[in-house]
Amino acid sequence: MPSRTVQPANGPLRGHIHVPGDKSISHRALMLGAMAVGETVIEGLLEGEDVLATAAAMRAMGATIERRGATWHVWGVGVGGLLQPATALDMGNSGTSTRLLMGLVASHPITATFVGDTSLSQRPMGRVIEPLSLMGTDFTASPSGRLPLMVRGLCPAVPIEYRLPVASAQVKSAVLLAGLNTPGITRVIEPVATRDHSERMLAGFGAEVWREGDVISIRGEAELKPQRITVPGDPSSAAFATVAALIVPGSEVTIANVGMNPTRAGLYDVLRSMGASIAFGQQRSVGGEPVADLVVSASTLTAVKTDPTIVASMVDEFPVLFVAAAFARGRSVFRGLEELRVKESDRIAVMAAALRAIGARVEELPDGLAIEGTGGEPLPGGGTIATHLDHRIAMSLAVAALNCRAGVALDDDAPVATSYPRFFADIGALHTA
Ligand code: S3P
Repeated sequence: MPSRTVQPANGPLRGHIHVPGDKSISHRALMLGAMAVGETVIEGLLEGEDVLATAAAMRAMGATIERRGATWHVWGVGVGGLLQPATALDMGNSGTSTRLLMGLVASHPITATFVGDTSLSQRPMGRVIEPLSLMGTDFTASPSGRLPLMVRGLCPAVPIEYRLPVASAQVKSAVLLAGLNTPGITRVIEPVATRDHSERMLAGFGAEVWREGDVISIRGEAELKPQRITVPGDPSSAAFATVAALIVPGSEVTIANVGMNPTRAGLYDVLRSMGASIAFGQQRSVGGEPVADLVVSASTLTAVKTDPTIVASMVDEFPVLFVAAAFARGRSVFRGLEELRVKESDRIAVMAAALRAIGARVEELPDGLAIEGTGGEPLPGGGTIATHLDHRIAMSLAVAALNCRAGVALDDDAPVATSYPRFFADIGALHTA
């Protein structure tokens, strides 16, 4: 485990960074490219470990995937054409790869075994096993529906209408992807809107997908046409430099290429409601998704109480929002965050422990956190943070370190490679710019 001590900023953060490709969109571009017949070309793919796990799995099931200079090229097998993988599919740390691929395999006549690291092996897969079993797929999972697990697909599978019991784009996407090779119409009812990248990209590849109110339908046995895709930057990765610029006095940072899909951009609304100075320049469309360049200036933040209805649009951004709250004026309260307990780590408990270790005043609630902010003053810092194989914990505490008197030691900085391999270089460049 490579440990790392992040020192406090030695002055304002200044300069310009270009955010790496969106993780969610990168996974889907590889998967749908692999389900099309012909060559899909992807620009801006996130070359993080999670996405590379998806690429390896698609190769193991018959797709040809190559990097040529700045672009990735996928020659797909066509819907219905996935091959039986010869060995277990290693999903590493990636819940998105696992759950979406379980959906794809579910309606193909193949058997696949999924394995992952110790973090992924503790995460619940029952939420995907349940709807896919209704479609006829057979699962052999480890106790309480965990990895390692084996999926025996059924072809033809049975189309279902499934109401999501948790607000989860991964579960929604697993069912829609299973629906791709299922005769008839598969429907997902989503009481709370979650990220819609699967729907957008399936439509872009030529599948018949439509939404009526909270019902999303897909007509199966679709024929996908290869595409040229440009992946926009990841708003979840941009969140770290955003909060860093807000909490380090005197900073002004431009963060280019930030995806602003409304199903992802909740953090930016919440930060602005806390008094953050964030300007959205160069608004444009990239790969069918809205994108902007953000100009973020250090700001005096005030405490916030988030509305549980905003959670789905910023589900991955709470760890770094907790850091912003730790430097805001007043007591922030975040509730309705039960889902955070089943991410790469229990992000409520782990962030409570980490923030306390750097001197913040935090109360852990069953479904969230209450945080008493410093009003902008630095926190003491010091102590070593347990990151629990969770990239977003590591990056959030690295951001907090910038405004801690003694900096912060991370027990393990390797997890950042799952979603943002250049993270430390990008933040470091803002110091010297
Ligand atoms: C993702 C959906 C979210 C998110 C994850 C990526 C996706 O998970 O936390 O990082 O790409 O669909 P849930 O859908 O389980 O909330």
